[in-house]
Amino acid sequence: MSEKKIFIFDTTLRDGEQVPGCKLNTKEKIELALQLEDLGVDIIEAGFPISSPGDFESVNQIAKTIKNATVCGLSRAVQKDIEVAGEALKPAARRRIHTGIGTSDYHIKSKFNSNREDILQRAIQCVKWARNYTDDIEFYAEDAGRTDNDYLAKVVEAVIAAGATTVNIPDTTGYCLPYQYGDKIAYLVNNVPNIDKAVLSCHCHNDLGLATANSIAGIISGARQIECTINGLGERAGNTSLEEVVMIIKQHKHLGFTTSIKSEQLNPISRVVSDVMRMPVQPNKAIVGSNAFSHSSGIHQDGFLKDALTYEIINPEEVGAAGSRIVLTARSGRSALAHRLQKLGYQFNRNDVDVLYEMFLKVADLKKEVQDEDLKEMSAAYKPEAVTAS
Ligand code: KIV
Ligand code: ZN
Repeated sequence: MSEKKIFIFDTTLRDGEQVPGCKLNTKEKIELALQLEDLGVDIIEAGFPISSPGDFESVNQIAKTIKNATVCGLSRAVQKDIEVAGEALKPAARRRIHTGIGTSDYHIKSKFNSNREDILQRAIQCVKWARNYTDDIEFYAEDAGRTDNDYLAKVVEAVIAAGATTVNIPDTTGYCLPYQYGDKIAYLVNNVPNIDKAVLSCHCHNDLGLATANSIAGIISGARQIECTINGLGERAGNTSLEEVVMIIKQHKHLGFTTSIKSEQLNPISRVVSDVMRMPVQPNKAIVGSNAFSHSSGIHQDGFLKDALTYEIINPEEVGAAGSRIVLTARSGRSALAHRLQKLGYQFNRNDVDVLYEMFLKVADLKKEVQDEDLKEMSAAYKPEAVTAS
């Protein structure tokens, strides 16, 4: 079976940078863009050029610097926005304008005080304006997650006819359940006559913790692009995590998808993004959290020490993580203790380990994590003659 390529559209520098406190200057954005290109992303959404002179400059500099990935700029369905995006992107080897408008009744009525027909015409118009600057046009139907499918299909058909080559179906509010988002994509695949002329894109937010699941449901139903960010950064609860979707695609080969991402760079780039955006990664974050490859309970440690595959589905090296870690806590068992003592160079027999384990539990109940220094002290107190190789 030939694998279907999923385009990775990274929006760390746009949706990710919208997070309060995560604003980057032009130099930081260029450095990150270069690392994203090296990681293998297909499209870098570099910013929203009309939003500020600084963002225009960043998009323009990134457009000059990036040679392999497509550089994308966001705009509203407003002629001036599109003009400015076109200008900022002019030097790019490959450029994309990402333009669009809200299509749910919430947006149509509350935000635009308008009606479906008027919004349809504005959607067509913005794609036509964008065509003056590039052939690579992505249209977003904001709040597509809560947009009526019949109307959404009409909009999608019309923007493709107007020249959109990618159509983004954002679940802007993170509202959809995976089956609903998957059904929405399937509905478009089955009901838009010219759907073969464009790539459908998943842009999911994480308000209910479903962004990754929804994006995967989307590609299973026929979408071929995922919009995501490093560490899942983004508005409110964030966007789909790049590292999560990439590793799901890699782990579940039976799905028949592939990406261009060099997975061994996932942890290094996660740290860079966390540092430069001053946004710590939660320790239990999949793939890139500090505990993603830590084993703490006795049952898990015992199984892991017998065969790593019993409790790890990913080899840490595959995602550039430092390695698996056995954490010694009050929940750890004898085998983890014996393993660590051995690593420290001690050669205790089974009875010794039993005695040391009782000592260990007393210390462990007082501390969150028992360190090697604690074990050395315990060993010296128990058997001063025990020597370590180290
Ligand atoms: O979440 C969203 O709908 C967006 C669009 C601007 C693409 O970020
Ligand atoms: Zn978004």
